[in-house]
Amino acid sequence: MQETVLILDFGSQYTQLIARRVREHKVFCCVLPYNTSLQKIKEISPKGIIFTGGPASTYEGKIKPCPEIFNLRIPILGICYGMQVIADILGGKVRKAKAGEYGNTGISVSTKTELFRGLPGDFVCWMSHGDSVLMVPDSFVKIAFTKNTDVAAMVDRERNIWAVQFHPEVVHTQYGKNIFYNFLYEICRCAGKWTMESFIKQSIKNIKSQMGNSKVVLGLSGGVDSSVCAILIHKAIGKNLFCIFADNGLLRKDEGKRVKEVFKRHFKMNLRYVDAGKRFLKKLKGVTDPELKRKIIGNEFVRVFEEEAKKIGKVEFLAQGTLYPDVIESCSAFGGPSARIKTHHNVGGLPEKMKLKLIEPLKDLFKDEVRQLGMKLGMPEEIVCRQPFPGPGLAVRIIGEVNKERLGVLREVDRRVIIEMKKAGLYRNLWQSFAVLLPIKTVGVMGDKRTYENVVALRIVTSEDAMTADWARLPYDLLARLSNQIINEVKGVNRVVYDISSKPPSTIEWE
Ligand code: XMP
Repeated sequence: MQETVLILDFGSQYTQLIARRVREHKVFCCVLPYNTSLQKIKEISPKGIIFTGGPASTYEGKIKPCPEIFNLRIPILGICYGMQVIADILGGKVRKAKAGEYGNTGISVSTKTELFRGLPGDFVCWMSHGDSVLMVPDSFVKIAFTKNTDVAAMVDRERNIWAVQFHPEVVHTQYGKNIFYNFLYEICRCAGKWTMESFIKQSIKNIKSQMGNSKVVLGLSGGVDSSVCAILIHKAIGKNLFCIFADNGLLRKDEGKRVKEVFKRHFKMNLRYVDAGKRFLKKLKGVTDPELKRKIIGNEFVRVFEEEAKKIGKVEFLAQGTLYPDVIESCSAFGGPSARIKTHHNVGGLPEKMKLKLIEPLKDLFKDEVRQLGMKLGMPEEIVCRQPFPGPGLAVRIIGEVNKERLGVLREVDRRVIIEMKKAGLYRNLWQSFAVLLPIKTVGVMGDKRTYENVVALRIVTSEDAMTADWARLPYDLLARLSNQIINEVKGVNRVVYDISSKPPSTIEWE
């Protein structure tokens, strides 16, 4: 059984960060809602349990774990609200603090313990709390304090329950990584065998035994997730994996060609390349409404995929590159973002319609782990480090009608944006860098002649997870170079503007 640490999510914005910290120490972890049943916890049989922070107050009495969890004799680490809820349930006192603490705060260790082993007596931690533990439960002792918080950390040695008021998972806490290390290795006695190599070995074994001789179909998009997913499955079942690459004609320059080169020639995979550009463009003719564009593209994709899959013969499984953040979001007690701002294009609905069983071999991984995995599997860096690209492709970056001519213009601009960002060494640090073709023309002057041509907007953003984003503060010289190049070299463009909107309130894509 895989050594696992369980993270119980009390609604913290840092839950995923905690998971990352644990995995950085080579220990596998999973995130479940705070109210996960005792039965389920016993099934997982974790080496340790971490309670995250959260926005609730214990005296509201709602957000609590099942109290028997404390009798399991599994080491527990409570963080922020996680500490308060431990204190509250086990008989301590939690109240609104006289003075809350937010941001960098000096902390002093009052009792030396395994949790703070190797740390100095005083360090800086990052706090964010309005409530405090005023009195620890009987079985606990205080082990650290700050200027305003008497109980900044506590422990019940008997039951192996540890708790800190601060956030060791954020980089602003000095020695945060050491604290996790101590919890995992000194307290939980983990063996730390979670590495990419072990993941690959285990996954291949699982896929082989799960798939047997069945045929698996996968929609390859050229993006990181579906590509890594394909290569991993291919390693396990070889020619029984059938990848379908539906070229919707809305891709970036040479993208289809490159996918064929990499997957067919290099990895020698069963790749079915469907040149469906004309079909998509016909359906998109005259369509300007963004949601309608998305719907048309999504539906047409499903149709193409189904038609192609039928030709393969009896297929039992559909493989998808679902990642762990999606899994956490869909099973979290706190849910994901509530309002649907844009209909994301994916193969949703396909498994039921085609009566296929789903296989999602990346569903335990974070994005950067998927990238590491891709590298280990020998994927070209250019694919592993690719910036996200929306399913509906350039169609949502062409405001107004999508046609061959406008696609041609945008492709040429897009290519230059990417090349320049790479040349400047910025590509990997940017979340996305692309151009949007606007539905207006403006007057310009070139070689003493009047021009009346298109405007493109550059959308270049930094972000951690696409939930929020900011426009990149690029050097003026770089912007100037790019603008000159685009206007001089791309026929049909005589003006370049820079989008300086953050998300929210804007979104990253324009449609
Ligand atoms: P927005 O525009 O909503 O985009 O700020 C957030 C992130 O999602 C990407 N995006 C998509 N990805 N299918 C995808 O797979 C889609 O339909 C889609 N629409 C937007 C977008 O590029 C950004 O990274």
